[in-house]
Amino acid sequence: MCGIVGAVSTRNIVPVLVEGLKRLEYRGYDSCGVAVHQDNRLRRTRSTSRVAELDALVLADAVQGGTGIAHTRWATHGVPAVHNAHPHFSGDKIALVHNGIIENHDELRAELRAKGYVFESQTDTEVIAHLVHQLYDGDLFDAVQRATTRLKGAYAIAVFCRDEPQRVVGAREGSPLVLGVGAKGSGENFLASDAMALAGVTDQIVYLEEGDVVDLQLGKHWISARQADGSFERIQREVRTVHAHTGAAELGPYRHYMQKEIFEQPRAIADTLEAVAGISPELFGDGAYRIFKDIDCVLILACGTSSYAGMTAKYWLEAIAGIPCNVEIASEYRYRDSVPNPRQLIVTISQSGETADTIAALKHARSLGQAHTLTVCNVGTSAMVRECVLHFLTHAGVEIGVASTKAFTTQLVALFLLTLVLAQQRGRLSADQEAEHIKALRHLPAAVQAVLALEPQIMAWAEDFAKKENALFLGRGMHYPVALEGALKLKEISYIHAEAYPAGELKHGPLALVTSAMPVVTIAPNDALLEKLKSNLQEVRARGGELFVFADADTQIESEPGVRVIRMPEHYGALSPILHVVPLQLLAYHTACARGTDVDKPRNLAKSVTVE
Ligand code: M6R
Repeated sequence: MCGIVGAVSTRNIVPVLVEGLKRLEYRGYDSCGVAVHQDNRLRRTRSTSRVAELDALVLADAVQGGTGIAHTRWATHGVPAVHNAHPHFSGDKIALVHNGIIENHDELRAELRAKGYVFESQTDTEVIAHLVHQLYDGDLFDAVQRATTRLKGAYAIAVFCRDEPQRVVGAREGSPLVLGVGAKGSGENFLASDAMALAGVTDQIVYLEEGDVVDLQLGKHWISARQADGSFERIQREVRTVHAHTGAAELGPYRHYMQKEIFEQPRAIADTLEAVAGISPELFGDGAYRIFKDIDCVLILACGTSSYAGMTAKYWLEAIAGIPCNVEIASEYRYRDSVPNPRQLIVTISQSGETADTIAALKHARSLGQAHTLTVCNVGTSAMVRECVLHFLTHAGVEIGVASTKAFTTQLVALFLLTLVLAQQRGRLSADQEAEHIKALRHLPAAVQAVLALEPQIMAWAEDFAKKENALFLGRGMHYPVALEGALKLKEISYIHAEAYPAGELKHGPLALVTSAMPVVTIAPNDALLEKLKSNLQEVRARGGELFVFADADTQIESEPGVRVIRMPEHYGALSPILHVVPLQLLAYHTACARGTDVDKPRNLAKSVTVE
């Protein structure tokens, strides 16, 4: 994780660096810092507060310069503290920021200590600064190239040197980094973790590739690519015009971005469906027809909320399209011995498209000879989209709140479309069925809007929830992943410990937790498993557990002492997970508000998880 910005310019670049950091805060917000070349020396300001505070500090400290780097941190090695905040210095010569994890930092630290380098932080990053210093012989580009050949792990770095005032060098391996070419005549060049950080400064972006080292100077830049033998060769990379969202969306009438994003779901779903005239493989890109014809099963790889979208899709794909589907947590799949199948469609799901575990799992799947790859992603310029043969872009719009909401529901829409396409290709979708599903999808924005109208009732529940320290979430069938998502939302932003179970599993262990102090949130759709679910609810009531039920019409589940019911509006059965997750998002949100947590930036988390 962590966000990096760097620049070479003739003007004072500090405001640009700080503005870039504000846009990268989604990548981590444990601490932040900026360093510039000023009066022939390195100047730096660091803070464990948010970037807004850093903004005031650099003004107060009169930190100014045309060459500089900046960083917003998600702590891995070393607690969030000023001495661990980036930029890190090596003596008064080298300033460096880093995103990623250096796995051989202990070995390098020992080696550098033996050479007299003194370490001021607990970070793995500081070893890179000293390593570059040690290898520096008048040419920063050369020193960084040589340093990268010693690093094991993942990194994106930006470095400058006191002795080369108008030069910043960047490098990447396993963590994203882009080069921004400044406006003609300005001579400016930039580095950033994400093109969004440079919105308003430049839209001319080069996506650096694994092993690239980039040299930024006034009016010129070049890139070298590391070769298999460790040498470097000059390379040209395409400059793309990227209209990055600034992410600086207005909150409007909402208290938090998460609330805004929950309420944006009808619009996000409508936008995701906009280009869908009918069910056709081309929705997933050129060549999809041929690939879908060739596959005999699906493997979904994802993390967190995106993996729950995948788990929901498994129910659809097997029941509607009749195609076997497995879902794996990306960070597990990449490290286990699996049985590859070249006819397996590898589907990655990711809001950001930059999640390190998911990208690594995708590469691992490919390395096993599985070439049919598809991503469902919310960011068209992301690594995930670039790496996969096929893609479907969800049009959720920028999601700022760390807790994923509209990304999840739009992922589900995309995965339902994938199900219909695969069902059609397998002769399992009649024209009537297709028309019925499409009609239900088109109605989805209105259906979600009707669920959002339940907010006042959910707020009343949240008042009670805020006093709890534990909660259970139950669902059955395709609503089990929804229960998982509800529990994740609650723990992530309210810090209440929450677990989800398929309701039938309760008696196999978790029922022991049920007392009058345990709220049990239940998703009760009117489906084939309803009677079984009702029996599970009786098991909870018999132990004094307090039930909070989101029940469909005609379920005959009514409020009574110990049982509170919120009635869901009428909806289309197959799409029920998309609707049932919405009240769970609202419950988590209002519970977190009642507990006074930092809803959009919950502790210890970051929006984009670009480290393993
Ligand atoms: O960007 P991605 O969808 O790949 O992110 C995956 C998870 O990190 C993400 O869904 C995370 O679980 C969210 N914070 C959940 O709200």
